[in-house]
Amino acid sequence: MPYYPPEPFRIKVVEPIKLVSPAERRIAIAEAGYNVFALKAKDIFIDLLTDSGTGAMSQHQWSALMEGDESYAGARSYFRLKEAVEDIFGFKYFLPTHQGRAAENILAAVLVKPGCHIPSNMHFDTTDANIRARGGRPVNLVIEEAFDPANLHPFKGNMDLKKLKAYIEETGSQNIPMGMITVTNNAGGGQPVSMENIRSVATLYHSYNIPFFIDAARYAENAYFIKLREPGYADKTPIEIAREMFSYADGFCMSAKKDAIVNIGGLLALNDPAVFQKVSNELILREGFVSYGGLAGRDLDAMAVGLYEGLDEDYLAYRLSQTAYLAGLLREQGIGLIEPPGGHAIYLDAGALLPHIPHGEFPGQALAVEMYLEGGIRACEIGSVMFAHPDPDTGEMVYPRLELVRLAIPRRVYTQSHLDYLAQSLGKIIQRASELRGLKFTYAPELLRHFTARFERL
Ligand code: F0G
Repeated sequence: MPYYPPEPFRIKVVEPIKLVSPAERRIAIAEAGYNVFALKAKDIFIDLLTDSGTGAMSQHQWSALMEGDESYAGARSYFRLKEAVEDIFGFKYFLPTHQGRAAENILAAVLVKPGCHIPSNMHFDTTDANIRARGGRPVNLVIEEAFDPANLHPFKGNMDLKKLKAYIEETGSQNIPMGMITVTNNAGGGQPVSMENIRSVATLYHSYNIPFFIDAARYAENAYFIKLREPGYADKTPIEIAREMFSYADGFCMSAKKDAIVNIGGLLALNDPAVFQKVSNELILREGFVSYGGLAGRDLDAMAVGLYEGLDEDYLAYRLSQTAYLAGLLREQGIGLIEPPGGHAIYLDAGALLPHIPHGEFPGQALAVEMYLEGGIRACEIGSVMFAHPDPDTGEMVYPRLELVRLAIPRRVYTQSHLDYLAQSLGKIIQRASELRGLKFTYAPELLRHFTARFERL
């Protein structure tokens, strides 16, 4: 039997959840246009749509909220956050933002010009869209192993350095205003990036004078994977590993809703004073003053505390064992997933589970809909609904290589029995997989279409 770690906390406040009847679930998903984003939370039993902003804050974070200083400028809360950010990440300048995508937006506003190119291992959807929205081209250059769900490479989030070098040579470094890497690689299975790879990517970008930014949403989980898997790091603490990771970069943007275990918040930090001046002006225009960035003072305090809790070693050991446990339950039933399991989520290989449904009929979406119908479970498609797009040169549809369904595990929220229930529900679906049918769009916006698209079942 897979191992389930005892949680390094006990439960002090509970939030009731309810499984509504199968008939109610059928009505709810039809009314939602077969898009799980349009479901009402009250109709969901176990919500694995995202690990973003859905974590449970600790008693220390809740008490920090009471210390929040709501001054418009120069609040104490800002300085408490500043101290934590400088201690962990070590950049010269930082800005709080209301989410990760707000940090991406102001960074893209300043650095991305029409026709320029931004490489990464894999951009997440909001980063991808923020670059496209400014006329730039996001490019994904992760190692080939990332596309083989069975491959057990310990750092499947790594950048392919050969591809990156060739891409820079071909594109010309003058057309690349920044280079990125996402840790862990959310769009590719929550897979970590090794320290060696981060260091080499930085060296390569810097040899072409390209500033290097980390998308750091899950940096603490990445640090713990490095501790577990990379030679030379076993005796280092997660915070020491994190400090080394960021020492190679020129800046980072981050959604604090993941590893800082807050319900809202983001960060942007960098070393270049001229860029900082410009992003500050963008922040003031769109988000708020530089000392609160669209957040309440209390949110900054919860973040300052959460940044350290997300790096706690007992917490990280529990966190990564929880996803490993769920992966074990699914593996026992022969359910295909991206191996090895990532930190924050399990990614079901919907393409392999439903081989009879082609890309254009959205096998991942079909599985996500079925999970809701079977068990009141909400999960997120990461496949053609999210990423298929017309090629800007030829207009031909480009499909992603993997059709996935992500089961994102909120931090400190669900227990072992919730995961057992989930595994049992999936087991039932797999029995009747060949009967499942795909979907087609009845509405789809141009960018970030998974959020608001509507479907019809085929
Ligand atoms: N970068 C990564 C790697 C992310 O996973 C996310 C968000 C963002 C940036 C944007 O941050 O939501 O605070 O604006 N990911 C969430 C998810 C939405 O479900 O994976 P945000």
